[in-house]
Amino acid sequence: MNKHHYPTQVSIVEVGPRDGLQNEKSHVSTLDKVELVHNLANAGLKRIESGSFVSPKWVPQMSDSPDVFGRIKRQQQVVYSALTPNMRGFEAAMEAGVDEVAVFGAASESFSQRNINCSIDESLKRFEPVIDAAQKSGIRVRGYVSCVLGCPYEGEIAPQAVASVSKQLLDMGCYEISLGDTIGTGTPVKTALMLDDVIRHVPVSRLAAHFHDTYGQALANLTIALQYGVATIDSAVAGLGGCPYARGASGNVATEDVVYMLNGMGIKTGIDLNKLLHAARRISSVIQRSPSSKVFNALG
Ligand code: HMG
Ligand code: MG
Repeated sequence: MNKHHYPTQVSIVEVGPRDGLQNEKSHVSTLDKVELVHNLANAGLKRIESGSFVSPKWVPQMSDSPDVFGRIKRQQQVVYSALTPNMRGFEAAMEAGVDEVAVFGAASESFSQRNINCSIDESLKRFEPVIDAAQKSGIRVRGYVSCVLGCPYEGEIAPQAVASVSKQLLDMGCYEISLGDTIGTGTPVKTALMLDDVIRHVPVSRLAAHFHDTYGQALANLTIALQYGVATIDSAVAGLGGCPYARGASGNVATEDVVYMLNGMGIKTGIDLNKLLHAARRISSVIQRSPSSKVFNALG
């Protein structure tokens, strides 16, 4: 491992409006979602995952995504993306004017079955036409891999399984692979061992770290990822987030915690922390829960 070659700049992918709100029990109106997206863009986020085109029976919280996209006042430099598990989702996303889409697979067979109702191999077959159609329309596709540091059903996941799915998604045409610690059970050395395998197959410049903070390990694990040269980090404002098909998957790492840490390390993000805290305050009042993040509680 190359020690302490931290990137000078990190691209943050804000997933709060999707990963965060997909797991909220309280109803969040379309207009409140749209305001959240606007507040995030105003804070300087350039990549905002703003919804999901999945079955409303599986994730009812995202059923208004077409309307959310229809109402967002777009900022020119901002990419507004969404999850599209199949062609049906992709077509709906295109109708809604989504800028970038993501397919989502897993390194665990059981998680794949419970999350998207098919095996890992079947999921890759379903993604093929989505990626092909996206490429024909000039739309970039991100590939998620869930359970990279543990699975709620299978426990330990072999780093080789993560590397294998990541490489297949890359070869199929995903421009970026987002490595999901879905249930936040990872710890720093495990993170390093997983990355050791993955970077043998996928260039580090194509990787993103998507860590949930269920056990308070996300910043420590992100520090390892940064040392490996990972320069794209997924996070959710106010630490919103989780996954309805992964028990105990509490929030994604909070964007404000990540920004504070990166600021302190002299790594640029282009994000205004005060405006970000405003976004956190607003959505927290909507869901009537105070943000889980340390930085919000210190500064908010
Ligand atoms: P299925 O049942 O195998 O598929 O579900 P199907 O094609 O048989 O369709 C079943 C029903 O869904 C049908 O409706 C379809 O019309 C409908 P019915 O006839 O029963 O009334 N349907 C759709 N409706 C709207 N949009 C669509 C769509 N597709 C089918 N695109 C499917 C397969 C993938 C659709 C389903 O399992 C699903 O929607 N799963 C979504 C799960 C999900 O969103 N999970 C959370 C996101 S992943 C995550 O959070 C992890 C991540 O953050 C990374 C990490 O942390 O690890 C990304
Ligand atoms: Mg997630």
